Order: sequence, then structure tokens, then C-alpha cells
Amino acid sequence: MTIFTNKSEIQDYIFKQKAKGTTFGFVPTMGALHHGHLSLVKKALQENNICVVSIFVNPTQFDNAEDLKKYPRTLKSDVTLLETVSKNILVYAPSVEDIYEGHTIAEHFSFDGLEFEMEGRFRQGHFDGVGTIVKRLFEIVTPNNAYFGEKDFQQLVIIKKLVQKHKLPVTVKGCEIYREANGLAFSSRNTRLKPDYKKAAPFIFKTLVTAKEKFGTKSAKQVTKWVEKQFAKNKFLELEYFIIAEVTTLKTVKRKSKSKTYRAFVAAYADDIRLIDNIALN
Ligand code: PAJ
Repeated sequence: MTIFTNKSEIQDYIFKQKAKGTTFGFVPTMGALHHGHLSLVKKALQENNICVVSIFVNPTQFDNAEDLKKYPRTLKSDVTLLETVSKNILVYAPSVEDIYEGHTIAEHFSFDGLEFEMEGRFRQGHFDGVGTIVKRLFEIVTPNNAYFGEKDFQQLVIIKKLVQKHKLPVTVKGCEIYREANGLAFSSRNTRLKPDYKKAAPFIFKTLVTAKEKFGTKSAKQVTKWVEKQFAKNKFLELEYFIIAEVTTLKTVKRKSKSKTYRAFVAAYADDIRLIDNIALN
């Protein structure tokens, strides 16, 4: 498998291939790859000739230095895993220098308020960091299509906004959340869960499923109260937020409307590990 670490080399390669009519799908990641990432790669390969996977732990999107330091870096096993999927994959694993050229700071973006909801409220500057890296990667990779997981639903909506506002020539596609058999959403952070917490974590999805059922007959406020009560009884998981939001504005729902589409979002700590998940409600 070809691994590029230098932006001009991958740019050059892709430019030449595109001139011959080759199409490129792109899956940006921070590595520690798992089946959730692979589901995006497989979709990209169905719809494009080649899939580029970037592996880069982006410092500017972390608001917590300890979290950045502890983030797993497993390039060798990531490449081995990708080799099991297809030969038509290129890896771009740049250094911080290759991306930021000595200025490891985020650009400031306006995403029309999307950036102040949920994750934006709890992770200062997070979406400026995400916007900065994704815009830069799009400029380097120049993909036809880019694939993002609904696991990070707010990120997906924000990337669509980024592309629209900056008129970037790429089509952004959302992909369903890929889960373990017990319902836990695959995440690079799961490998850090101690056994008791790993056992407790599927509770998050289970609670989301019941919340969805309840949302059919109860108000958003009633469902939110019920979920908060369930988490309060769970000694392994500490709820940071449970929010029912409208899917285009990500604003918390006050009064349900039949014509609108909603999703429920959770962030919870299992010990010191922050897990997020969400579910479509209607
Ligand atoms: P990372 O957390 O590595 O995720 C890379 C992509 O994989 C994201 O689009 C994410 O939503 C998707 N993904 C993760 N777990 C998934 C699952 N269980 N099912 C489906 N998709 C899943 O998200 C990032 O990296 C970064 O913010 C990045 C976009 C790369 C910018 O640095």
C-alpha cells in the first residue's frame, strides 16, 4: 500500500491520476482505525476508483492537552487493516509540520451557529480545528467525494456547511453509525475502556433506543428527563448532555413539529473517556 507523508507528493500523484479520469473518494481520520472507519472506506470504494484515507491526529481540534497526548497512534496496524480491504487505497499520513508549516493554529470559522450547539458548547474551539484541518485536507487531496460518519453527526452537518460556504468542489456524504453487536458505536476511544466500563458502555445506545420509542408519545422534555434519570442511576457512566435537536439547525427542540426531523444526542464519560452517540428519532 502506498503511504504518502508529504503533501506535494500526494497532490502530484492525484493530479496525474485525475487527468486520466480516475475518481477519488476521501475518508479523513485520526487513525486507530476500526470497523466504523472501514465502513466509510468501503462505501468510498463502491463509488470511486480510489479511496484516500488520511491518518492525522489533528492538534488544533483538541481542547484538552492530555486527551491529545493519550490519543492512540497506531499507523502500522492501521495500514495492515486497510490492506485487508482493498488495493485501491492510498494513505496520507502527514506530520504536523507538513500540514501546519510551523503555525499550529486553527482558522476561525462561522458555521451559522451550528458550532455553538452540543459539542461546541463543551469543547471550546473544537470545530475551528476540525474546519481548519478538513479544509486543508480537501485542498491537498481534491477528492470527488468525501465520506463522514453520522457517529459525529454535528461534525458532518458542519462539514456540509463548510463546503457550501467556501464553495469547495467536493460532495460530502454521510454514512450510518457502525456498531458492535451489543450496540456500542465503534470508536477509537473504546480500546481505552477498562473492562467494567466497556461492559457498561452499551447502556448508551440501549437508552437511546428506548428514548426513541418514548419520543413517539412523549414530549422532548419528558424524554430528556427520563434519560437523565437513567444515567443518574448508572454508576459507571456520567452524562454530560442528552439533547434532542432538529437535524439542520441542531437547535434543541422546544416543541415537536410533525414536519421536522429530530435526532437525540448523548455525550457521557466512562471513567475519563468521553463517548458520544446519537440516533434518528423520526
Ligand atoms: P475520527 O474520529 O478518526 O473519525 C473519522 C471518521 O470516521 C469520521 O467521519 C467519523 O464520524 C467516522 N466514524 C467514527 N466512528 C464511526 C462509526 N462507529 N460508524 C461510522 N463512522 C464512524 O472525526 C474525526 O476523526 C476527525 O474529526 C477528522 C474529521 C478526521 C478531522 O480531524
